[in-house]
Amino acid sequence: MRAKFITLEGMDGAGKSTHIPNIIAALKARGLEVVSTREPGGTALGERLREMLLHETMHAETETLLMFAARREHIANVIAPALARGACVLSDRFTDATYAYQCGAKGVLAAKIEMLEQWVQEDLQPDLTLLFDVPVEVSMERLSSARAPDKFERESAEFFTRIRHAYLQRARENPARFRVIDASRPLEEVAKTVEDIIATL
Ligand code: TYD
Repeated sequence: MRAKFITLEGMDGAGKSTHIPNIIAALKARGLEVVSTREPGGTALGERLREMLLHETMHAETETLLMFAARREHIANVIAPALARGACVLSDRFTDATYAYQCGAKGVLAAKIEMLEQWVQEDLQPDLTLLFDVPVEVSMERLSSARAPDKFERESAEFFTRIRHAYLQRARENPARFRVIDASRPLEEVAKTVEDIIATL
């Protein structure tokens, strides 16, 4: 298996982060170096931008620009070097989240995001994107029983519905890269699906 760039996506409360340790273990068991990272974040500067992005109110385009600023730093310092040395990169969110949240939910024009994507990523795209899909009620229910919500997690059901639809549309537009996982099922079943997908890489 050659080095792969794998991203995890889904609404807040979909439970994607729970599966990260298992995915890392499965990849390592195959002798791969794994770099596990997240967006926004992944670098010292990116984590400072994350603090602002998650807790400060700002124009949706400012948010988009800061997401891509953090992403530029992340690619230059973490993702590209890791892929170049043959490591696998597992990122908890990447550009599909910008299409889902800033475009789908907040109305930033897709054409503007495409420009930034081209600028910041050039040819870099994930090889595999696992989309943890849950109905909005399930995600909101899970969030309400979790820790104190950040800015995004305090949004309305309509906001989350737009995110879900935007993610599913991204999946339909990029079928070779996406695997849509029904994450409303019991955790062990979802974990088994994830394991099966990783095993086919
Ligand atoms: P998340 O990945 O859910 O982390 P945690 O599990 O610690 O809450 O939080 C990141 C938030 O940032 C999430 O609400 C989605 C949002 N986000 C965007 O709006 N656009 C983006 O491009 C990215 C990467 C994240």
